[in-house]
Amino acid sequence: MCGIFGCILKKGRAAPLIREALKRLEYRGYDSAGIATIHGGKLYVKKDAGKIDEIHRRLDLDDMPGRIGIGHTRWATHGAPSQENAHPHGDCKWEVAVVHNGIIENFDELKKELMERGHEFKSKTDTEVIPHLIEEGLKNGLNLEEAVIEAVRRLEGSFAIAVISTKEPDKIVCARKESPLVVGIGEDGMYCASDVPAFLPITRRMVVLDDWEVAVLTEDSYKVVNALTEEEVIKEERHVDWSPELAMKGGYDHFMLKEIMEQPEALKNTLRISDFYYDLLAASLIKAERRFLVACGTSYHACVAASYIFSKVAKMHVEPVIASEFVQRYGEVVDERTAVLAVSQSGETADTLVAVRYAKRKGADILGITNVMGSSLCRISSVYVGQSSGPEIGVAATKTYTGQLLALTKIAIKVARRKGLIDEKGEKELLEELSKAPEEVRKVIEKTKERIKELAVKYHNRKSFCFLGRGVHVATAMEGRLKLLEISYIPSIAYPAGESKHGFIAVVEPGYPVVFIIPPPDDETFDDVLSNIIEMKSRGADIIAVVPESALEKVKDFVDDPIVVPDVPKLVEPIAFIVPLQLFAYYVSVAKGYDPDKPRNLAKSVTVK
Ligand code: G6P
Repeated sequence: MCGIFGCILKKGRAAPLIREALKRLEYRGYDSAGIATIHGGKLYVKKDAGKIDEIHRRLDLDDMPGRIGIGHTRWATHGAPSQENAHPHGDCKWEVAVVHNGIIENFDELKKELMERGHEFKSKTDTEVIPHLIEEGLKNGLNLEEAVIEAVRRLEGSFAIAVISTKEPDKIVCARKESPLVVGIGEDGMYCASDVPAFLPITRRMVVLDDWEVAVLTEDSYKVVNALTEEEVIKEERHVDWSPELAMKGGYDHFMLKEIMEQPEALKNTLRISDFYYDLLAASLIKAERRFLVACGTSYHACVAASYIFSKVAKMHVEPVIASEFVQRYGEVVDERTAVLAVSQSGETADTLVAVRYAKRKGADILGITNVMGSSLCRISSVYVGQSSGPEIGVAATKTYTGQLLALTKIAIKVARRKGLIDEKGEKELLEELSKAPEEVRKVIEKTKERIKELAVKYHNRKSFCFLGRGVHVATAMEGRLKLLEISYIPSIAYPAGESKHGFIAVVEPGYPVVFIIPPPDDETFDDVLSNIIEMKSRGADIIAVVPESALEKVKDFVDDPIVVPDVPKLVEPIAFIVPLQLFAYYVSVAKGYDPDKPRNLAKSVTVK
């Protein structure tokens, strides 16, 4: 998730306005930024790694001439944050400049093809193919609008782009597919941006572009065409009355809710990561004799889920370990035949880094899954996957948890294939199953949101909760409990449901709320989960449960408050079934009057031991 902005003014300079707009988009990404403007037939570009204010101090971004320009603030997916990888990107002669938000899935093959035709690439990004494709169109006699249309038709994946060119210095051409893009209509000029906050102080009149739409902006007009049909589209203008704060949250009350809701999109982005990295990671795991999954907090829960998934899908033993315990617990068994896969959203968690640095010193192979490209974990790992979930601002991890689960499951499938447990067809089937995750999560949210709001109001004053699950849903229970605990401050526990009779059951008294995650009836753990529910129910517990539709009939007599979810493919279950518990935690926190985005005493990234 990056932020893009473009503006073409009737008078004055574009660069300061672009810088300020990028600042308002920084919540979409902040590891590098840049601006391109056109003046006197020449393209000016300033870009670098770092946050906008730092770059501005170094390069004076305002000091760029021209009434027209584009800008970008980046959240790296392909290529680490660096000067070369920062946007805008240009063609061979810097006659075209492009900013892009999204992931171009077929960039590898496009890049090869363009290089064969003599194009020179300066960065490691997927984006850079776009200006070179446009360059070819312009060379073949197309105008800028036509060249952009021809280029975007060749792109697979997601994009929101803004393009300027010295060949037609009086227009911006922008286009989108799957990544957001809005056009702002102002008194003093025209604007385009990833998101409304960018131009809120300038104008509140806007047009939202849909997939495959291309907008051509001049200083006092805009035109929208469909890139596939090339027909003009008449768009409805909207007036936004959001406050800047509300706009940043996409109209939601909190970032946490926005991030829960954007999971289908974020999961799609994780699915877009090239198989190449997953394959490399799988190969490294197979090579090792001992394998540890090391992480903290929510990321640790993803590792717990992964240990079940690896065992079932890939017949591979991986040991999930809480990072701060790793050295004491397994330090003496780490050697050069050990692989340590560290999972960290931020890639900067001190406990995780201490564990991997220790393992590295002892010769272990360090692998990583992180959401932050260029983080310390990336630098220390021999292979890593950047999960591309986009920046997460709410302290409680939501979309990055489901992204981690997806990435880990994909690695397990790759291991199974490499070990010969499944053939090409089998791999394809499993990957197809997994690719349903975004849609299933969307359905779960749609089906459960209102119901969970009511339940949160009903239960928010309880003094404690217990979360129980079996199999992979032990991890779902642990994560559901962590979400509730960290943002509503209700002391809660999570157990493997089978273990609950060895202690926890003593706590149960009439009215004590117990949250179960129930699998579908054909799951091997179903009968045992049902027995555990009955044990709790017979002691008077209030049973709340995530229940797939197919199980409702069998459990309804024992569950007081079912949260009914659709049946989803097996591999998608851990990803889909945590979502109602994220929502439950969120709404309980709101019902208690807390700010779920800023839980007391907690930090998003804990960089101390
Ligand atoms: C902190 C955050 C948690 C997070 C954990 C691990 O405790 O509050 O939300 O799960 O760190 O962070 P990481 O960035 O390594 O995934």
